[in-house]
Amino acid sequence: MQYQNKVINGDVLEVMKKLPDNSIHLAITSPPYNVGKDYDSHNDQMNYEDYLDWLNKVWTETKRVLVPGGRFCLNIAPTGIKEFLPVHHDFTTQLRKLGMLFRTEIVWYKQTMLKRTAWGSFKSPSNPHIVPSWEYVLIFSKGQNKLDGNPEDADITKEEFMKFSDGMWYIPPERQRNGHPAPFPEDLIYRLIKFYSFKGNTVLDMFGGTGTVAAVARKNDRNFVHIDLSKEYCKVTEKRLNSAKEKLSQVKLSLPIAENNIFKKMGEPIGAIHR
Ligand SMILES: C[S@@+](CC[C@H](N)C(=O)[O-])C[C@H]1O[C@@H](n2cnc3c(N)ncnc32)[C@H](O)[C@@H]1O
Repeated sequence: MQYQNKVINGDVLEVMKKLPDNSIHLAITSPPYNVGKDYDSHNDQMNYEDYLDWLNKVWTETKRVLVPGGRFCLNIAPTGIKEFLPVHHDFTTQLRKLGMLFRTEIVWYKQTMLKRTAWGSFKSPSNPHIVPSWEYVLIFSKGQNKLDGNPEDADITKEEFMKFSDGMWYIPPERQRNGHPAPFPEDLIYRLIKFYSFKGNTVLDMFGGTGTVAAVARKNDRNFVHIDLSKEYCKVTEKRLNSAKEKLSQVKLSLPIAENNIFKKMGEPIGAIHR
């Protein structure tokens, strides 16, 4: 595919229209949350109905480009305190209407409670606020639940599988922001990629930001397609991919010794080479 392993600077819908049907095994994304974040080139305060209509077009393209059984992992935070918006419900309804199968939802618990300030009516039931210290990752598949793949390309370990299949994931937010207001933590993406794709698969992030999905895909023997409207974020992604490449060759060089040690200890291979 022409767009495989490419960082593409452009508008999501313009670019996605050019991607071939049935060419992506796993899409992982976090769209702009429409909460007024300060992105490089996107207005993050649209009218809510316009916002949903726009994203519905993106979901339609997502379904088209996924292979049968391909997965879509959609990260979204609960938004609003005074007026709580049911955005994760609205996205789920949209995707189900488009015929995507709703598989599950993962709760990403970010443990941000220590930093909170907006209590509402502190110590009084008159009007207290719940501050969302979690986000969702909604999981869908196209047409069928099963993704075809060679069993030899399944690289998740037993320990990882058991840990990740518990749907409550405790992962702190990313501290290293690379000039972006809302990057994914690598650990979140590592888990999704390992749990939902085979080695050699192609992973798309159509709101790719500073390239967390692309970098983690690269480090774990997957192909990627990265799209973002911001030239700046795409530049950061390119840099990050170059250093991911270097790290990968270092890891590969040192792997046989590490593998030997771990084989001896555990009697089975390790899968996690990203740390
Ligand atoms: C929530 S952020 C994604 C951050 C990303 N997950 C990361 O780890 O860096 C949403 C991204 O969508 C991009 N964006 C907004 N409007 C867009 C559009 N029309 N086409 C493509 N990208 C867009 C923004 O530039 C922003 O980087």
